[in-house]
Amino acid sequence: MADNHFTPHAALFDLTGKRALVTGGTRGIGLMIARGLLQAGARVVISSRDAGACAQARSHLSGFGDVEAFPADLSAPDGCHRLADLVTADSDRLDVLVNNAGAMWREPLETFPAEAWDTVLDLNLKAPFRLVQALLPALRAAATPDDPARVVNVGSIAAIHVAAAPNYSYAASKAGLHQLTRVLARELGPQHVTVNAVAPGPFPSQMMATTLATLGDAIAAKAPLRRLGHDDDMAGVAVFLACRAGAYLTGAVIPVDGGIATTASGT
Ligand SMILES: NC(=O)c1ccc[n+]([C@@H]2O[C@H](COP(=O)([O-])OP(=O)(O)OC[C@H]3O[C@@H](n4cnc5c(N)ncnc54)[C@H](OP(=O)(O)O)[C@@H]3O)[C@@H](O)[C@H]2O)c1
Repeated sequence: MADNHFTPHAALFDLTGKRALVTGGTRGIGLMIARGLLQAGARVVISSRDAGACAQARSHLSGFGDVEAFPADLSAPDGCHRLADLVTADSDRLDVLVNNAGAMWREPLETFPAEAWDTVLDLNLKAPFRLVQALLPALRAAATPDDPARVVNVGSIAAIHVAAAPNYSYAASKAGLHQLTRVLARELGPQHVTVNAVAPGPFPSQMMATTLATLGDAIAAKAPLRRLGHDDDMAGVAVFLACRAGAYLTGAVIPVDGGIATTASGT
């Protein structure tokens, strides 16, 4: 039987001709995602607050493809709008928006400060919403029914299970981001924009450096897959969500955690 939606294997995962923005793409998980998208053929824009880090990451990533880097502080609305303006300055189309930039704050309940709520919610929850708002015209311009534009939010297993460390605002921000993913998916589906989230388990990064230096071996030993996350684990799921193969998913929160939260028994 003829199937007019049959795509050859290589093209299923090919991002040639696509343009993606990865916030926080200068290091850690954002860098893993940016590298994966570039290797799949996309042109990628990365951003972070630090202009030096942007330049360094751009230089590193340029070995994998066509990459630009724009410094921007996404913790306030004007930074989000400035980045959106820069991204759309020479192209009014954006195929993939990866909301990855994030901050963590751990402190005991008794001393947990108001600032730890504002800092974390501004970046982890409000910035993804503001960037979707600001970049929606560009996402709509890239979208087609068969190949929707994509929003990929980087959540966390901290919003799926309860971490041992006190991370009140972080866990709440990621739970909010997971639900915001579903809310936006329902609204933007008919406009041919998918909205999904990835919920990483432990991946080596600056954010996780202290935790993994002391507890990394123990965390890996307890994980069903007996290891921490690797760069390719994150690159792979991001490419899947961005390419033809992932075109019929929306409103999904995908744990990439070696089974840590997905198989937690609670006993
Ligand atoms: N690593 C893990 O195990 C893990 C697990 C679950 C979820 N996650 C999530 O994955 C994402 C990336 O985390 P990561 O571990 O890769 O952290 P990371 O190494 O600390 O990287 C964070 C990135 O965000 C940028 N950033 C921080 N504050 C910013 C701001 N105000 N405006 C713009 N950019 C900002 C940083 O660059 P500048 O400092 O130069 O701005 C950096 O590029 C986060 O959303 C995090 O919650 C990570």
